[in-house]
Amino acid sequence: MKKEVMLKIEGIKKSFGGILALDGVSLELNEGEIVSIIGPNGAGKTTVFNILTGVYTLDEGSIIFKGEEIQNKAPIHIVKAGISRTFQNIRLFNDLRVIENVLIGAHLNTKYGFFSAIFRNGKFKEEEDREALRAIELLKAIGLDHRRDEYASNLPYGEQRKLEIARCLATGAKLILLDEPAAGMNPKESAELMEFIKKIRTMGYTVLMIEHDMSVVMNISDKIYVIDHGKPIANGLPEEIAVNEDVIKAYLGGVANA
Ligand SMILES: Nc1ncnc2c1ncn2[C@@H]1O[C@H](COP(=O)(O)OP(=O)(O)OP(=O)(O)O)[C@@H](O)[C@H]1O
Ligand SMILES: [Mg+2]
Repeated sequence: MKKEVMLKIEGIKKSFGGILALDGVSLELNEGEIVSIIGPNGAGKTTVFNILTGVYTLDEGSIIFKGEEIQNKAPIHIVKAGISRTFQNIRLFNDLRVIENVLIGAHLNTKYGFFSAIFRNGKFKEEEDREALRAIELLKAIGLDHRRDEYASNLPYGEQRKLEIARCLATGAKLILLDEPAAGMNPKESAELMEFIKKIRTMGYTVLMIEHDMSVVMNISDKIYVIDHGKPIANGLPEEIAVNEDVIKAYLGGVANA
């Protein structure tokens, strides 16, 4: 069966003042895959996500998502097109409850928007009830239902990461971008995270992940792209990347310079 290309990034370039943060990065992702981007600190990984989600405009190159050119579109357009992300440093609404955090994701995709998610207003009640039911289903599916009414700030770290991912899923997006989901996790939490990411794939989502934890990357990726100093240096299967000399050199260089 031929796989459907979901995302095609071609030759993207981006500089910030004098720094060439991305210099010709390309990437292809098929529907249903888990693909990882790795590389030393400052390689340009998060910049790829910022460009993909419309936070930054690119200087050159193109991005095609489900057949539509999306480069340089506004962030809200990109969410509605079906791409949602998490952040390297968790960004939750700490003073809101778990379910409310999920509802904010859901409301990005309705005509009523963000504020009606917070300031409940009778007029929007019907739509809200439907969204609330969906949010509860989602929390059940990812095993966070028992935390529904807790404040986000009270959740243990691993569950906060899960909640941030749940908020992405609630937007209705089918491509989920995870920026270092295992950062700060202990081995038990990152093992659970791996299972969780595999589970969301079975729920019909496609995952593009930036990650430094090599056990996570090597265990769950279908394909890995490596960038260093903004340049693509390799891509392939986990077992190919693990023995690639350019990749090893890039990481050893990082250690030597640290
Ligand atoms: N808004 C910005 N203004 C100026 N420089 C930036 C900006 N965003 C990123 N950069 C620079 O671009 C380069 C790539 O940064 P990026 O955050 O993409 O790296 P990364 O691979 O995600 O690193 P890390 O693993 O540490 O998260 C760095 O040199 C960084 O300082
Ligand atoms: Mg980063």
